[in-house]
This record gives sequence, structure tokens and C-alpha cells, in this order.
Amino acid sequence: MKDLTPPKDSLGPIEIASRDEIAGLQLQRMKWSLAHAYENVPHYRASFDAAGVHPDDLTSLDDLAKFPFTVKQDLRDNYPFGMFAVPREQVARIHASSGTTGQPTVVGYTQNDLEMWGSVVARSLRAAGLRSGDLLHNAYGYGLFTGGLGIHLGSDALGLCTVPISGGMTPRQVRLINDFKPKGITVTPSYALSILDEFAREGIDPRDTSLEVGIFGAEPWTNAMRKEIEQAFDMHAVDIYGLSEVVGPGVSMECVETKDGLHIWEDYFYPEIIDPDTGAVLPDGELGELVFTSLAKEAFPIIRYRTRDLTRLLPGTARSMRRMEKVTGRSDDMMILRGVNVFPTQIEECLMQVAGLAPHFQIELSKPDRMDVMQVLCEVADASVDSTHKGRELAALVKQTVGISVQVEVREIGGVARSEGKAVRIVDNRPKG
Ligand code: DLL
Repeated sequence: MKDLTPPKDSLGPIEIASRDEIAGLQLQRMKWSLAHAYENVPHYRASFDAAGVHPDDLTSLDDLAKFPFTVKQDLRDNYPFGMFAVPREQVARIHASSGTTGQPTVVGYTQNDLEMWGSVVARSLRAAGLRSGDLLHNAYGYGLFTGGLGIHLGSDALGLCTVPISGGMTPRQVRLINDFKPKGITVTPSYALSILDEFAREGIDPRDTSLEVGIFGAEPWTNAMRKEIEQAFDMHAVDIYGLSEVVGPGVSMECVETKDGLHIWEDYFYPEIIDPDTGAVLPDGELGELVFTSLAKEAFPIIRYRTRDLTRLLPGTARSMRRMEKVTGRSDDMMILRGVNVFPTQIEECLMQVAGLAPHFQIELSKPDRMDVMQVLCEVADASVDSTHKGRELAALVKQTVGISVQVEVREIGGVARSEGKAVRIVDNRPKG
């Protein structure tokens, strides 16, 4: 793999600023953001008033803890534009969640917000090792999802040449990677695996492509998966994180030279880690739920948004801004089996250790009697593999490392549903209620 470390002089001043400088900027911006939300969004005025706090009460960053949290339901209750802080005419872009699990959540951006978003994504792409003039194959979905268009904004801002291929039509992905010779690919890790399969199907060695770096996010993935992808493509694999409510991709980004967690672009997004049960703010280093406050967004300011993502805050390394550890999972995806908490990423880690099994998997939950049963669906990497034996090996590994008994069904190649965007990891067939 090539050394893609960005030259020091290509970094923005804020990326190498002192902690004091960063904190000073954060406080100034936080005051503005709280006042902007309070004055222009009835929901924030009502929730601050109910909690007995006013934006003027914030005199230090720690005072943020006095302010109420915002949750996804607040966005649903104010559907579609009730959380906007500017008149609709000043909103230049709208994105929304798919709404498959209820009322869609809608977010908006002014022209200034789009510029800010482009700048943090550009910073992220640069941290991945891309430079002006490089070619980027952008396979995140375009549309209401923030992935495709968000990366595109940053790609334009950095001066890359973007191939806006979006997700899907996998043979065409392989063809254009071969023909256009991109240096970078932006894609969900699970869809990268589908693309990898297509390379194998066509008998093309993915290690021979021009790709030097893959920028993976929008869903949890493990370091074991990183190794697998880096090996298979002979390229760097780095992590990009974000969520629509905060901005989209580009909230935090792993630097290619260290690959040690994701630097949060703290000049625009203020992170806190809380105890998900009590809401208390936890010190840096402790595992908990990530909460974000936007510091400069005009159309859709977001105050203390509970992401449900579990991680911890760590000091800066390649940049001065703090890092977050790779997200192990969302609290929504946590399964509890006979008292043991389990995340799909733990199953992924085990799966990656069993030679002969492909990296695709899905978890099915059922309740045939009164006990929850977890079945892991996976598949052989090639037809010669003894599936019964491998299934037993995986079950034993899960028992040994995670501490739970699972059933494993090893299917033929192609037997597990493929994703073109975010993978569906859990299928819950348990009776509701
Ligand atoms: O997934 C934004 C995005 C697009 C990020 C492309 C990176 C690349 P949403 O659809 O609103 O936005 O989903 C946000 O996805 O709360 C996490 O649970 C999960 N997620 C996003 N990035 C990562 C990551 C986009 N790198 C939700 N690791 C978040 C783990 C991630 N989970």
C-alpha cells in the first residue's frame, strides 16, 4: 500500500490548532448556536423554558450539560419543517431518512450550511489521502440519503474528479473502476464486499486495480473487516462517520496515516458522551452514547442530539481535535440474549476469524418457545468448503468470545442477502409485544 500521509502544510490551521484555541472557538460558536435555536425554533424555546435554562446561562462549555437533549422523536413531532430555524425560502437543500420505520426525519441546509458541509467532507477526503485532481468513485447512494450528495460536495470542494455512480448495478461498478482508474472509492463496507464478489465472478483480481484508498462508513464495521478489505483490494481502508441530523458524512474521519479512530471536526460539531440510562455526561475515555451539538448550522441547528451510537472520546493524534473510537454499534442494534449484550459487530469479528467463510452475514432472531434464539446466516467462501464443520467452528468461537450460544446456518455462495447501501444485519422474527 502506498504512503498517503497528507503533507503537513496541506492541513488547515484549525486541524493543528491548540486545544485552547479550539475550545475558545467552540464556546463562541456554541453561544451563537443555542441563541439561534432558542430564538428561531419553537421546539427549542419550549424545551429550554421547560428545563428552566436560557442560552445566556452558558458561560463555559461544561454548561451545555444543563440543556435538554434532542431525540429523533422531536424531529418526527415537528415533521416536516418545524425544526428549521430559517424561513423555507432560505433553505437550499433538504435530505430525509427513508422513513421505513416511521415518520421520515427531515433535515435542511442553507447555502452557507452546504459550504460548511463541503468543507468538512473535503477535510475528511484529504485525511484519507486524496488530493486535488484525484479521481473518486462515489458509490454511496444519491438521493434523500446524505451519503452520495454529501461526499460529492466535499469532492467538489477538494477539487477531485467525481464519478457519481451511486449504489447498485454492481457489474457496472467493476467496469468503471477498471476503465476510469479511480484512486479512491467511497462506499458502505457491506456494498464494498458485494463489489468484491463481482470482481471474483468476473475473474479480475481487485488487487490489480488503481484503487489506493477506500472510505467506508454509514454503518458499523470492524477492524477485522478493515484487514479483509485492505488485503483483498491492496488499498487503505479508513472510516468516515456522520449522521443526517448532525450534517451527514464528514462529522468525523479517520486519518490514513494513523487509522486509530475518527477525528471529530470539533470546530463545527461538539461531542459529549453520556450514560445512556441516566443522561449524565461521562469523562473522556469512557464508553457511552455519543451526543452532538452543532456549532454553526443555520437551517437546522441541533442541540444535544442523542445519536444512540456507542463509543468513547479519545485525545487527538494526527490532528488536534479529539477522536472517537470506531462505533461498536447503535443501542438500537444491541441484542440481549439470556442477559448478555451482543452487537452485530461482535459476530462480524468472529466470522472474520473463520477461514473458509465469506464476510457476508445476517442475524435472525426468533422465539420458538419462551427463549430467544439467535441464528447467524453466513456462507462459504468457495464451494469446496465443508459448511457443517465451519458452522460448528463459528458457533464455538462465538460461544467462547461473546459468551452466547448461537445457531449457525452456512449457505452456498450468494445465499445471504446482499446490500447496495447499508446492510440489514438483524432480522427480528420474534413475536411483537
Ligand atoms: O449514514 C451518513 C453517512 C454517509 C456517514 C456516508 C458516512 C458515510 P444516516 O443515514 O443519518 O447518515 O445514518 C446515521 O449511521 O447514527 C450510525 O449509527 C451509522 N453510521 C454512520 N457512519 C458510521 C460509521 C449516514 N463510520 C447512522 N461507523 C449513525 C458506524 C456509522 N456507524
